[in-house]
Amino acid sequence: VSSQFCEAGIGYGDSECGVLSSSMSKILIKGGTVVNAHHQEIADVYVQDGIIVAVKPNIKVDDDVIVLDATGKFVMPGGIDPHTHLAFDFMSTQTVDDFFSGQAAALAGGTTMHIDFVIPVNGSLSAGYEAYTEKAKNACMDYGFHMAITKWDEIVSREMEIMVKEKGINSFKFFLAYKGSLMINDELLLEGFKKCKSLGALAMVHAENGDAVFEGQKRMIELGITGPEGHALSRPAVLEGEATGRAIRLAGFVNTPLYVVHVMSIDAMEEIAKARKSGQRVVGEPVVSGLLLDDSGLWDPDFTTAAKFVMSPPLRPSGHGKALQAALSTGVLQLVGTDHCRFNSTQKALGIDDFRKIPNGVNGIEERMHLLWDTMVESGQISVTDYVRLTSTECARIFNIYPRKGAILAGSDADIIILNPNSSFEISASSDHSRSDTNVFEGRGGKGKVEVTIAGGRVVWENGDLTVAPGSGKYIDMPPFSYLFNGIDKEYAKYLSSLQAPVKRFKATT
Ligand code: URP
Ligand code: ZN
Ligand code: ZN
Ligand code: ZN
Repeated sequence: VSSQFCEAGIGYGDSECGVLSSSMSKILIKGGTVVNAHHQEIADVYVQDGIIVAVKPNIKVDDDVIVLDATGKFVMPGGIDPHTHLAFDFMSTQTVDDFFSGQAAALAGGTTMHIDFVIPVNGSLSAGYEAYTEKAKNACMDYGFHMAITKWDEIVSREMEIMVKEKGINSFKFFLAYKGSLMINDELLLEGFKKCKSLGALAMVHAENGDAVFEGQKRMIELGITGPEGHALSRPAVLEGEATGRAIRLAGFVNTPLYVVHVMSIDAMEEIAKARKSGQRVVGEPVVSGLLLDDSGLWDPDFTTAAKFVMSPPLRPSGHGKALQAALSTGVLQLVGTDHCRFNSTQKALGIDDFRKIPNGVNGIEERMHLLWDTMVESGQISVTDYVRLTSTECARIFNIYPRKGAILAGSDADIIILNPNSSFEISASSDHSRSDTNVFEGRGGKGKVEVTIAGGRVVWENGDLTVAPGSGKYIDMPPFSYLFNGIDKEYAKYLSSLQAPVKRFKATT
């Protein structure tokens, strides 16, 4: 929590403070290295009315233009976080970050768009959509929605169609865990996959075997293990591997692309690697916590410290994170999210006597861009262009909003960051911009600092000052049939004919 921002309210761009003018500024970013997913060059970037107008060397402008010197720095598309939960009612409480505070934190960390998960209300997608539209009224940056599917009937099936055709949603998440609340069975998963395929919507899975997790939790309680370590012990990586493999096989059976959210283990990653190698269209999303942290914190004798690390799937023993980093750098995994789902220590204490009641979730929306730069680029594991692809461009392509988002090109939205590779960052709950009193990355720091964030053509973060306006964020419609669906039935036709060939031969000889 940064008191300057969160408590005093300094920097809110509302009319009372008079921080923002109503008209959008003209901005020239001079002399930086402009980085896109496939190319980098030294160039100027000119922005007007929220749109990038030109990207080329030596742009000349009038006096009324704000000029930002980016010499020696990287000018990149703002981050897009594909996986967040803001104002999420979950496990008897609601996340501390709502759309305003979570997005403000995101902007301070160089992320300019996120996609949040709408949870249906009593199974109703339209009620869920309405509720989230209300929650997002105070948005200060652009956002999109995924939608969870938690039950199945004709109404849900029809509503999926409405969400895709009228509401700008092109992805649906199926929870294979959280038995008794969000979890669905294989029959529903198959129905959902078929519907996704017909709509050109991307199916997403939270892949853990929820029945086995339930069994593992019972075991821990019987053994008298009630602390946060029981969370990790009750749902080992094998249960994530099983569910990932099952979801992949069923998506393959239906022949629809699949997106596996929060890949936390080698077990799950290897299932994705195998499927991709065989030609199946599977996308794997690791999250920054899973890439950088291990499960050791869950054994901390201090409950507050241990409980802050509780998320699902759980943080894994050391070794998994490094393997996920390698998978990211070799293309086995395609983009990085956060699963930002933040609870404070009072909320985490709901599970003081029983780890099953600790609200699941960790932070990351503000930290992702910095930690990924330091861990992957500064260390030499990936290139700067790869960084842009993994933090922004690939997300925009998968959710079909490229090149409006995810690129520094003429015509793209002016969501831009300036990163100084020679500056450094430090992370602490006391200085971050989110509302929690704990941070799972507490004390971490590194090279590379987002010095400027421009969102929708406005400078919202500069010199450590955040100037954001509630209500300035836009809902981004995401159309169906992304590139992942391109030609998918041609491949399938080949597969089917390969199956039918022996059947025909058999018939001919009998
Ligand atoms: O622990 C987590 N991941 N909380 C958010 C809900 C989910 O499973 O994504
Ligand atoms: Zn704060
Ligand atoms: Zn999940
Ligand atoms: Zn999540």
